[in-house]
Amino acid sequence: MAESRGQWSGRIGFILAATGSAIGLGNLWKFPYITHENNGGAFVLVYIGMVLLVGVPIMIAEILVGRRTQLSPVGAFRSLGKDKPGGGAWTGVGFLGVLAGFTILSYYSVVAGWTIHYTYLSLTGELATLATDPHALQTYFGRDFLANGKLQVMYHLMFMGFTTGAVYFGVQKGIERVAKILLPLLFLILLVLLAYSSTTSGFNEALHFLFVPDFSTLTTGSVLEALGHAFFTLSLGMGAMLTYGSYINKDISIPRAAFQISLLDTVIALIACVIMFSIINSSDIEVSKSSTILFTTIPTVFAQLPAAGFFNAIFYLLIGFAALTSTISLLEVVSSYAIDDLGWTRRRASVTMGSVIAVFGVLNALSLGGNATLTSINLVGRESTAGVFGTMDYLASNWFLPVGGFLIALFVGWILGVRDTVDELQKGHGEMPWFKLWHVLIKFVAPLAVGAIIVSVILGREYQ
Ligand code: PHE
Repeated sequence: MAESRGQWSGRIGFILAATGSAIGLGNLWKFPYITHENNGGAFVLVYIGMVLLVGVPIMIAEILVGRRTQLSPVGAFRSLGKDKPGGGAWTGVGFLGVLAGFTILSYYSVVAGWTIHYTYLSLTGELATLATDPHALQTYFGRDFLANGKLQVMYHLMFMGFTTGAVYFGVQKGIERVAKILLPLLFLILLVLLAYSSTTSGFNEALHFLFVPDFSTLTTGSVLEALGHAFFTLSLGMGAMLTYGSYINKDISIPRAAFQISLLDTVIALIACVIMFSIINSSDIEVSKSSTILFTTIPTVFAQLPAAGFFNAIFYLLIGFAALTSTISLLEVVSSYAIDDLGWTRRRASVTMGSVIAVFGVLNALSLGGNATLTSINLVGRESTAGVFGTMDYLASNWFLPVGGFLIALFVGWILGVRDTVDELQKGHGEMPWFKLWHVLIKFVAPLAVGAIIVSVILGREYQ
């Protein structure tokens, strides 16, 4: 059974693929941006606390359920929930994960597609020319690029094509191979950029901003945002880690793996911040308030450097790679449902699901200005939820992931039973003196913290 579903080649393969899922637009685009909005230091510290107290425990829980059942989310919750309180209803957690994977991928791939266009623009030199005038770049991005439906659809479809290809070739040949090559490359490129940024005049200021906390700037909203982001960036709450965990064997230590993945993810997010803030601080360019900083501010900073085109190209290529290893995990959740539950072959599942999501995602691609109706739809009624794109992002980040994470924590903390959990965690790990600590975190701390996000969303005081 396990053989036909696929398995990682070993521990490193799994760690790389799971880290690849975690590291993505969340780290390189969103984290620097929200850290800027939330005034650095104290926010960063709270975020690290959230990763340790809530993120790592839930990641352990997800991988545990995946390995225990050797199934993807729907089947996993069906089989474990069967003779427990709640019974078949737990299967809903799995379906929620599939829905979240579908939804997130349909718009994530649009943003990921931008990196292809920006790599292209960097190589032709156009970006460097545009970037000499920050206003020109802003106008270009909003009016000429986002509102150009044809381009948006084309890059989105292209990115979905790459993603589908990797999932098509399966766990070892596709997903793992992509992650094995791309992740080390990503680290390398980031290190080069980090080394470069340490020579800039804004480096010390950046370190100070990020690592010297000023708690007077911290609000309840930033605490909740830190928690929400910990979820998104660690790929939790929708069964991505659960699915990847279903391809590992019993000699891997789940707690150690979860810790390593979270550590790598956090380090990359912090390095991205140091790089971006160093170069922003070294220039006299005002950071625009919008979340488009990655596409409108960074190139103007690079433009002041020698070999701007080269730096820009590498930078966007790297972000595209990071996004690819994340989109792969999103499609994998949806495809593995069809493989495990509907009995489809991997090829049929990846191509069918990839195509359906690609077609649905066209609505997102056209809702950034390309099509007036799709752009003006706003079911939620807030500025950030405008268009089909905004609505999908809102649904996924504010509802599907937190609710999914909450239910996963409840299930593992309260329903699964201590014997099953201890038994599974000990495999590949041995004695666990900290088991009690983890159990308290997964039983009380994680559900309460995630519950707070859900309540704040219900009350209409979103964290983002
Ligand atoms: N963790 C990814 C990122 O930071 C996004 C993601 C979320 C991937 C949920 C899979 C599942 O970009």
